[in-house]
Amino acid sequence: MAEVIDGNRIAREVRAEVRAQTLELKEKRGITPGLAVVLVGEDPASKIYVGHKEKAAAEAGFLSREYRLPAETTEGSLREIVAGLNASPEIHGILVQLPLPKHINPDVVIETIDPRKDVDGFHPVNIGGLFTGRPGHRACTPLGVIELLDRSGIAIEGKEAVIVGRSNIVGKPLALMLLNRHATVTICHTRTRDLAAVARRADILVAAAGRAEMVRGDMVKEGAVVIDVGINRKADGKLVGDVAFAEAAARASYITPVPGGVGPMTIAMLLRNTLSAASLWGEAGA
Ligand code: GUN
Repeated sequence: MAEVIDGNRIAREVRAEVRAQTLELKEKRGITPGLAVVLVGEDPASKIYVGHKEKAAAEAGFLSREYRLPAETTEGSLREIVAGLNASPEIHGILVQLPLPKHINPDVVIETIDPRKDVDGFHPVNIGGLFTGRPGHRACTPLGVIELLDRSGIAIEGKEAVIVGRSNIVGKPLALMLLNRHATVTICHTRTRDLAAVARRADILVAAAGRAEMVRGDMVKEGAVVIDVGINRKADGKLVGDVAFAEAAARASYITPVPGGVGPMTIAMLLRNTLSAASLWGEAGA
């Protein structure tokens, strides 16, 4: 039976470290990390996420600024707001919550953010940095997966890692992060032939497909580490991941639950990215 990786506990640890380092940054250099969170429209899930991000930022001792804009906001005026935040000395991190309303091109907005303030790690400059192994912000959810593995004492080097899902937010950046840590990486997707056979090769199996309980027990190699990035709400209101938990746990060595696994790590890593943006601000090369 698998050991359950407690994402709530690990996220609390990271957040406590960020809080302590924030205090030190304030005392030694007089810098308070500032995070601006921008939400356009009324998407209910986004409203909840944004609320959690603002609360976590305040708890870490950050300056937290929120911009809740109407759904009719134009791309031009959103870009003007972002440009203003780029120029603001008290803001070190800018997060524009996705998805944006259909009339706004998210790529154009993301490219407006100063890459040094792009604490989501979505700007092409930061993605390029990940690709080539140069410094820069890394996307929070895949970074959280790496942190869970590291803090659980799970080695990555030399392992067979299989990721189910190829999104820009999770699957693709996580593949590069695992590759940079010397794993052998395979990305599976909807057109993959014999997904189960590929998944069964994995020492580290990551489910990030956005489909409820699609990873079944017979796709998990005995002793594999199973990381579930999915959050899906079933018809009965219950939250489940992309992994059929009980079946997978019967074969895995470690497994993350949903909720309480990867989810809480995303915000913890957002705080860490913002702290790092604030401490690098004004330093040579930053
Ligand atoms: N929507 C879903 N996940 C994320 C995220 O990590 N960052 C932003 N900005 N929007 C999201």
